[in-house]
Amino acid sequence: MPRFSKAVSSLRSSEIRDLMTLASRPDIISFAGGMPGNELFPVEEVEELFRGLDLKKKQAAFQYGPTPGLPSLLESLAGFLETKGLPVNENRLLITTGSQQGLNLLAKAFIDPGEPVLVENPCFIGALSAFRANEAELRGVPVDSDGISMEALHQELDRKEKSKFLYITPYFHNPAGLLYTTERKAQLINALQGKNIPLIEDDAYGDLYFYEEDRPRLMPIKAINPAGINVCYTGSFSKILGPGLRLGWMLVPEKIYQKCELIKQSADACSPSFTQVLADAFIRSGQIYTYIAGVRQEYKRRAGAMVDALREYLPDYVQWNEPRGGFYIWLTLPEGADATPIMMEAVEGGAVFVAGKTFDPEGKRNNSLRLSYCNNTPEQIAEGIPIVTAAIRKYCG
Ligand SMILES: Cc1ncc(COP(=O)(O)O)c(C=O)c1O
Repeated sequence: MPRFSKAVSSLRSSEIRDLMTLASRPDIISFAGGMPGNELFPVEEVEELFRGLDLKKKQAAFQYGPTPGLPSLLESLAGFLETKGLPVNENRLLITTGSQQGLNLLAKAFIDPGEPVLVENPCFIGALSAFRANEAELRGVPVDSDGISMEALHQELDRKEKSKFLYITPYFHNPAGLLYTTERKAQLINALQGKNIPLIEDDAYGDLYFYEEDRPRLMPIKAINPAGINVCYTGSFSKILGPGLRLGWMLVPEKIYQKCELIKQSADACSPSFTQVLADAFIRSGQIYTYIAGVRQEYKRRAGAMVDALREYLPDYVQWNEPRGGFYIWLTLPEGADATPIMMEAVEGGAVFVAGKTFDPEGKRNNSLRLSYCNNTPEQIAEGIPIVTAAIRKYCG
């Protein structure tokens, strides 16, 4: 038996990855994956953009690039982020290989084995696995419909052994679907000020809002730019262009940037030049704005179809929130219910979702489940939801 490191020996394949195999069975309606619908990708537009580039740019696309990212993309992306009010000039921008890499770089920069970090409960599985891979002790803080629970957060902040950072996904949370209120963000800022606990603000879904009136709520904490908190803002092209590009970014204070850039040098030297050239062209052509506006409408339509089906078929004892953007609806079943046999039952019937414990930092709590509407047509949603709700009724009455 090869003698693997302790860090690697404790890694487990996530339920979500295993489920991808199930979800790819052609007869299954999958509400499991958090990936955009293939038919929504701007294939022709990007083909056209590449064809229109001069030879030098096309050649650069095949070449290694600088570790922080191609200068042209750093410039165009800075412009895109400035439209959200982000303080690009007072911070440093680093292109990452997906925002998943950004989370890994930050984890490596901050965590020594066994050190505590604060995460929301439930929490994005990719963040949990990045922090676990760096041997963090995960401390989950529950969320309610307004954001992270302040009472529980204060308790954590008062503990003697100080956490290395707090990770949150305030805008169309994965998996809970929630959008932080402005008030909750203000309370969070207050609580963190002067604590020397950096905040990792993951904004993978903020562009996918369904209602104009929510835009003030989507103002990133990074854009509020509160004094006395090191805010590490991460974002991604995955949901607004395509995850296959494997491109994300982080906007962080200079000192944190320097460490992350060093770690990235050893991780992959640079993110893919090819897709950086494409993303740059996509932003500079202005198509990024029209494309996002289009997919926003489509995801709203899909979310609407799921809401309609849940209203019709879901028993009253299941708690859930109507999504205001993003990809997900989170269902909370009665206390003591177990989502795993419900999921197996649903798979038998032809539909799949992700059981809640996948997103629990302790991997235990399982009276919840995540439904994604992003990758299904309204017709598939109308067909699949009754299968899920029938399975819930079978086990929960
Ligand atoms: C909250 C959140 N953050 C980050 C990511 C990672 O995105 P990527 O690595 O594709 O940029 C995802 C992907 O699903 C996500 O849901």
